[in-house]
Amino acid sequence: MIRTAVFPVAGMGVRFLPATKSTPKEMFPIIDKPLIQYAIDEALAAGASRLVFITSSTKPSIKDYFSDNLKLESRLTKASKIQIPEDFIDVVPSNVECIFINQDFPLGLGHAILCAENAVGDEPFFVHLVDDLIYSEEPCLLQMKNHFDSYNHSIISVEKVPIQETSKYGIVELSKANNINVINSIVEKPDPIDAPSDMAVVGRYILTPKIFNFLADQEKGKGNEIQLTDAISKLLLEEQVHAFVFDGIRYDCGSKLGYLKANIEYGLRSDELGNDFLKYLLALKKESS
Ligand code: G1P
Repeated sequence: MIRTAVFPVAGMGVRFLPATKSTPKEMFPIIDKPLIQYAIDEALAAGASRLVFITSSTKPSIKDYFSDNLKLESRLTKASKIQIPEDFIDVVPSNVECIFINQDFPLGLGHAILCAENAVGDEPFFVHLVDDLIYSEEPCLLQMKNHFDSYNHSIISVEKVPIQETSKYGIVELSKANNINVINSIVEKPDPIDAPSDMAVVGRYILTPKIFNFLADQEKGKGNEIQLTDAISKLLLEEQVHAFVFDGIRYDCGSKLGYLKANIEYGLRSDELGNDFLKYLLALKKESS
């Protein structure tokens, strides 16, 4: 059983300034649901019952999202024109514990995960990077958890990327053992010429608690930040770490283009909007050709 999911959400979102001046990127909607809600739903679907958010005091609206907004609720009910969506009232079910920890210095993803050590305890845990939105029939973390149940090793989700983009990702070098992808090495954001492969780390991990030993001593690496990738690189000298090629489509919602693509494709899939949206796009295409 993996109980805990860690969401590092303290990042400054500089690529989306000026919007992120007051709205954290994790609160950006895909249609009408914020990215953080997609992340929560995925972790709950994989069985998590304790959600740990590593946030920053400069982003109060993340915590606000979890509080009741009784004033708005009562106004909407009184006006009775609007059907209140279920997850307006329940962001998480009542049996799920949410823990918020401030990471007030942007020291990197590795440092963010280290901040969760006491909350996680001596157990394997999920890490979910909210920027990476994954559309799939079976939620990505659940796919990974099913793999973990058979092998009990740390798992990192990966996908093939164009070789010229390796400097945006952690990159792994793999070998196959009994049909399992075992990671031999991992490096954070290498230039294409130094990249050991074109298999990139996507923001879903299951980590054994041993990672905390390495994070505690981890020096700053790429970008002068404490990198999770560097700690994983040490972990795999002591434990097998598997790479997991998930079934699904990833949208890099940390980039403007990726975010736009996600809105368009989720819009087209939407029961409520899909048909009208498709008609609109086809008409637009006709007009412009
Ligand atoms: C982080 C990780 C990187 C990984 C990426 C996936 O980088 O450090 O290894 O490939 O997430 O989205 P970031 O995008 O936060 O710079």
